[in-house]
Amino acid sequence: MLIGGSGSILILTQGTGCSYYSAESGDAYAPWAFPGAESRPEMIAARAAILAANPHNTQPWALHVSDSGIDLHADFTRNLGSIDGLLREMYIGLGCALENMVIAAQASGRAVGVQLLPDASNASLVASVSLTPAAPTDDPSFAAIARRHTNRGRYADAPPSSALVPALQALVTEAGVQLHVFTSEIDKATFRTGTIDATTAFISDAEMSRDSNAWYRQSAGDILQHRDGVTIDASGNGAATRFFGKELGRPSDATANSYWLDGTRGDQTTGSAFCVLSSPAANGRDDQLRVGRVYQRIHLWLVSQGLAAQPLNQMAELQDREQLKGLAPTFATLLNRLMAATDRRAQMLFRIGYPWDEALKSPRRPIEWVLL
Ligand SMILES: Cc1cc2nc3c(=O)[nH]c(=O)nc-3n(C[C@H](O)[C@H](O)[C@H](O)COP(=O)(O)O)c2cc1C
Repeated sequence: MLIGGSGSILILTQGTGCSYYSAESGDAYAPWAFPGAESRPEMIAARAAILAANPHNTQPWALHVSDSGIDLHADFTRNLGSIDGLLREMYIGLGCALENMVIAAQASGRAVGVQLLPDASNASLVASVSLTPAAPTDDPSFAAIARRHTNRGRYADAPPSSALVPALQALVTEAGVQLHVFTSEIDKATFRTGTIDATTAFISDAEMSRDSNAWYRQSAGDILQHRDGVTIDASGNGAATRFFGKELGRPSDATANSYWLDGTRGDQTTGSAFCVLSSPAANGRDDQLRVGRVYQRIHLWLVSQGLAAQPLNQMAELQDREQLKGLAPTFATLLNRLMAATDRRAQMLFRIGYPWDEALKSPRRPIEWVLL
């Protein structure tokens, strides 16, 4: 019926109760009109922060903004439970927000001074950023902030150009952070199989499955109410699948899990390279923040080059789960073998490549909801 064209779609919509809604529309997507009419450098920086990549779109941040600086706070209530029992991904997401903030402030005529974890007695304060007038930078990553979206669709399996890996390595300037890039067929197969196995372990773990699906937003009403979480439109599926996914209503957790596993076996493990950002094994909060900064920087740069990225953190999430539950270190061992290092901690896993389709936006809570 869909092949019959838009008229058929209309008939079907009318016949099934109209739970369809168009992608990227309404107030939940308004923050992506960035920087819009905003001209104050500190507010441009704050508005950039809330567009950053973050785990499961939990948006675990709160901001205190003045014209001389911004304090970035963790909102510990917005956590992923058993998926992120160490809050490691939360801190990586906060690092991503920090990087967007820094790039936007510099492009808006501010020099920045960044202090990570500046006050040991204030656990929620993860970074203080000072802002002083300076010449604006002309950084293509600034224009990429509003165009960067996690792309969960199919990528071409083309090998990366010879310039790509050195260009990515040049972006890794934070202390202690390393980028491992896997392009050989054997390494890609190990990463792919490990990710599929970790997805199977994840969906077989009742707590992890529950905590993941709790952040899934099915309807237009859910999205508008929460303005966070994972949606059908951000799933990387084609228009027909997204259409029927909306019409059919919220799937059971078991059905959602099996779609995810199928996607991981298929489109979501295509691409030119798999990558791991690692930190020293100590795995400190500052390490995690630095990894987040580098991931966001890499993703913005890729977007500025017409490339795409998708984090694929199942193996790292299972590594944390093993640590917390005292389980055999199956995924920790696999990640260390991939990185050929025992003194490193795999922090942020992702794929990169040439996408078939543009990624769609995910919802965002407005800046007013996160200002302190
Ligand atoms: C620490 C971290 C872990 C993530 N893990 C995954 C993942 O395993 N799979 C995935 O598809 N996206 C993952 N993401 C991407 C987020 O889901 C995404 O950034 C969020 O939903 C917001 O969407 P956007 O990136 O399109 O703005 C991760 C992001 C961060 C920062």
